[in-house]
Amino acid sequence: MKKIIITGGAGFIGSHVVRRFVTQHPEYHIVNLDKLTYAGNLANLRDIEHAPNYEFVKGDIVDADFIDRLFATHQPDAVVHLAAESHVDRSITNPLEFVMANVIGTVNLLNAAKKYWKGRYDITRFYHVSTDEVYGTLGEDGMFTEETAYDPHSPYSASKASSDHFVRAYQDTYGLNAVISNCSNNYGSYHFPEKLIPLAIHNIKQSKPIPVYGKGENIRDWLWVEDHARAIEVIFHKAKSGTTYNIGGHNEWKNIDLIRLLCQIMDSKLGRAAGESEKLITFVTDRAGHDLRYAIDATKLKNELGWVPSITFEEGLEKTVDWYLQNQEWLDDVTSGHYQQYYNDQYTNR
Ligand code: NAD
Ligand code: TYD
Repeated sequence: MKKIIITGGAGFIGSHVVRRFVTQHPEYHIVNLDKLTYAGNLANLRDIEHAPNYEFVKGDIVDADFIDRLFATHQPDAVVHLAAESHVDRSITNPLEFVMANVIGTVNLLNAAKKYWKGRYDITRFYHVSTDEVYGTLGEDGMFTEETAYDPHSPYSASKASSDHFVRAYQDTYGLNAVISNCSNNYGSYHFPEKLIPLAIHNIKQSKPIPVYGKGENIRDWLWVEDHARAIEVIFHKAKSGTTYNIGGHNEWKNIDLIRLLCQIMDSKLGRAAGESEKLITFVTDRAGHDLRYAIDATKLKNELGWVPSITFEEGLEKTVDWYLQNQEWLDDVTSGHYQQYYNDQYTNR
């Protein structure tokens, strides 16, 4: 049986990746390693927490000794690395936290992989999950391909770019079996309500202002999180060592248009008069260094590995709204911080 450590498995995307691997691959044993920061919530995994091929370990990837012990104890065959500080606005306030988690944390994992997998690089795998934000910003035309030069602007994207470079350096220098994927903005269930879509859903529901940065003209390319998890599963199994894949849904939306669509869906779901939720849109001071446009060209992934998104944005957004309306308890717990006492505090560092 293969043992796979998935880092950051209690977060938004990580919980979907853990669920996919645990349910689709009973032949694997999945170790979910997570520090349980404000963004990590074990309630995201309640449906699979008792699965026989699943185990949770609380720990910090910044702690090199802990990571070394983790590899010695668990003897993993692969790592799927998602643990990171992920919110751009927080990175503007506290860049060092992002360097520690995203750069030092990644290098600690790479060092352990190099040490414990020496002589076995052909049968082990380090999968690094990254973002399209490493490529910087686009003007009106063009898309990010795997050949686009790195040009990160925010402390978050700079830290992710740095971690990508370290993964490539360990592949080039030591021959580590490593793959990287760079994905566009995700949306879906279990998304922490500091990010645009869940924040807007939460505020619309409570009839609170929806903060739109600047004039709302920035463009993001949105992908349903379960399609991202499926892409990671495909790349994990099929990609050659040293390769990179861009993941995206060819689904660009101006922030303001996206918020208007969300308001329409919410009006209809909540039985409000058409146009009522739009009145909550509030233009606020723009984010510093706000990238104008992201757009992913995912042709390589489609042509080489056969992955395409499974649902349209309209379908995915409606599913997402339904999920948030049906999971008010989850939303209440994360907005009040209750989950940190209730679900997460039973674990101490190992
Ligand atoms: P998230 O913030 O929801 O979850 C991050 C998880 O990592 C949390 O569970 C947190 O507890 C854990 N973590 C943070 N620091 C840690 C540490 N030092 N040690 C151990 N665990 C730690 O993030 P997300 O949105 O799910 O993103 C997951 C990964 O995907 C990140 O690497 C991110 O850069 C990448 N990514 C995200 C998006 C997106 O749209 N959210 C898009 C592309 C790529
Ligand atoms: P976000 O969800 O933070 O993702 P990222 O910054 O990684 O793309 O933001 C998505 C877009 O929405 C981005 O252009 C910033 C904007 N935004 C707002 O307009 N208002 C908000 O309250 C937030 C959180 C984001």
